[in-house]
Amino acid sequence: MIIRRSISIVITLSLALVFIFVSDMVYAGDELNCVLCHKHRGLSRIDKDGQFRLFYINQELFESGPHRRNKCKDCHSDIDRIPHNPAKEVDCTQQCHIVEPSGNKKFSHKPVAKILENSTHGKLDKNGEPKPYQEDFPSCKSCHDQPLYRPFSIYKGEKVAGISKRAMSRCKSCHTSGDFAEDFYEHVTTRLHKSRYSVETIEVCAKCHQDEGFRERHELDDVITSYKETFHGKMVILGSEKTPDCIDCHVVTGENTHLIESQSVDTSSVHENNLNTTCRTSECHAEAGAMLSSFQTHVTYDREKYPMQFYMLIGFKALMAFVLYFFLTLIFFELLRRLFPKFSFFKEKKIDDYDDILHEIKSSIKQNEQSSDDKNIAPNTSPENPPDSSSGKSPENSPGKTSDKTKSLDDILRGKKE
Ligand code: HEC
Ligand code: HEC
Ligand code: HEC
Ligand code: HEC
Ligand code: HEC
Ligand code: HEC
Repeated sequence: MIIRRSISIVITLSLALVFIFVSDMVYAGDELNCVLCHKHRGLSRIDKDGQFRLFYINQELFESGPHRRNKCKDCHSDIDRIPHNPAKEVDCTQQCHIVEPSGNKKFSHKPVAKILENSTHGKLDKNGEPKPYQEDFPSCKSCHDQPLYRPFSIYKGEKVAGISKRAMSRCKSCHTSGDFAEDFYEHVTTRLHKSRYSVETIEVCAKCHQDEGFRERHELDDVITSYKETFHGKMVILGSEKTPDCIDCHVVTGENTHLIESQSVDTSSVHENNLNTTCRTSECHAEAGAMLSSFQTHVTYDREKYPMQFYMLIGFKALMAFVLYFFLTLIFFELLRRLFPKFSFFKEKKIDDYDDILHEIKSSIKQNEQSSDDKNIAPNTSPENPPDSSSGKSPENSPGKTSDKTKSLDDILRGKKE
């Protein structure tokens, strides 16, 4: 009896221990204990193509992501033994175990896939023929892989009136038990915001639409660069959430996000007949006139396609260059003068250079003598003949003295210098 009881206690205790141990590592939806192995960070290998492949699942990220209520096997349905056979690629449109309440059916993303098929991003054309360059067309993962799982909490900006923790507390006044209020509140309010920031949406589209090879294959313009050059693009890059990104203009208001259509299709939001409606939503240009929709979002300065913009650009560049270089030259010379205020290309006369002064005096005297000789006037005989004031020299050096006096003046000055 005692032995029996002690055995059962040991078994219960060890079971409890195992339970505590295991429950610490396994998340609620993980019935098959996949995370038991996949929580190890080092779980990886180099595959046949030499690619590094990581099989580690970050439990915390997984549990805060949009697929947290899915079981691993909902998506990895082919994994049924250990060690596994090589996994098949996950099909995003398969049904999972979750039941969607409005239709009471097993949940799947098939409706989204259908819409995608009918959009410009569908792989088949109207006649069911595959479009050229199949590998360029997006699958779910092309747009939804980065970042893989974002915690819901970061979408919950409390900027918009009515969506806040305080508002949620109101649900709790009636839905009192468990996490009911939190769960549904979160479910609804996270969908009232965009789930990606606009800059991230642009990055998603840019993956293909900015690629040069891609654009050449499909004869499309560089819409990413052109968008970023417009006021809309600049505002979005500066962090505005109110300015339109690609989705806002390319999806008809109220339509599914995945129904992006070519501008040549008459139901497209950017078809010329619909442009006015697209711009005039209550969030954007509600009162704008018809002219507004002639605004060109994707101008590329291509000479053939946009000749006016092309020549305008050249004109403005030339004007810019002229104004810039003109003022730069001015600034350059101004700077030179400030740095070297005494600099000159022409030699200045040095006042204390006696030799130069003497030379000048002498030559001016000689000139004087010569000119009086020429005029046949006796040199320096008449006292009325005043010294040449125009020479501007001191009276001592006056040319009115005799030439032998000049010599003695010369000597005097030399003496002074020595
Ligand atoms: C006993 C440990 C263990 C358990 C339990 C386990 N796995 Fe794995 N899993 C591994 C290992 C090891 C690898 C890497 C195998 C390899 O080297 O190819 C792997 C690889 C994978 C791969 C990638 C396989 C490939 O070929 O690309 C997927 C997907 C996967 N596991 C899903 C699951 C799912 C879903 C479950 C739960 C049903 C699960 N695993 C349970 C150990 C485990
Ligand atoms: C919503 C669907 C979904 C759920 C739920 C899910 N996965 Fe995945 N998993 C994917 C997708 C998609 C990939 C990318 C590879 C692919 O497309 O097949 C992936 C990749 C992986 C890989 C890497 C395989 C490789 O080839 O690099 C492992 C390992 C893995 N999952 C394990 C798990 C485990 C363990 C769980 C449960 C905790 C889980 N997954 C839950 C969809 C899912
Ligand atoms: C061309 C890019 C693109 C492709 C391809 C794409 N999606 Fe999306 N998807 C988006 C964008 C952009 C959003 C809106 C995100 C937002 O509102 O901020 C979105 C939103 C969603 C949402 C709504 C998420 C929520 O919580 O509101 C679901 C579900 C979804 N996509 C599933 C899929 C599935 C399944 C596929 C494949 C059949 C797919 N998508 C293919 C771009 C894409
Ligand atoms: C004044 C009380 C009251 C408040 C406040 C309230 N609810 Fe309810 N809610 C109810 C009642 C009663 C029902 C069931 C009757 C019905 O279906 O209309 C219900 C039904 C629901 C259901 C449907 C459940 C199902 O399985 O059919 C959801 C979801 C829900 N409420 C979410 C919320 C959220 C989220 C909030 C806060 C934003 C909230 N409720 C605020 C009283 C309230
Ligand atoms: C995986 C690559 C890829 C991604 C990512 C992608 N696209 Fe596309 N896009 C394409 C392909 C391929 C076409 C079809 C071109 C053709 O018909 O030749 C296309 C066509 C378009 C067209 C129609 C062009 C026309 O007038 O013919 C628009 C508009 C468009 N995409 C917008 C977007 C937006 C907005 C996003 C981001 C949410 C996006 N795309 C993301 C590959 C992609
Ligand atoms: C303000 C509205 C608006 C925004 C924002 C916008 N577009 Fe457009 N887009 C248009 C209009 C209008 C057209 C058709 C007329 C034209 O080419 O200007 C167009 C045309 C296109 C085309 C077809 C171009 C071609 O060569 O035929 C693609 C592809 C495209 N946009 C993708 C994008 C992507 C990707 C983004 C985000 C970076 C984006 N658009 C942002 C309005 C917008």
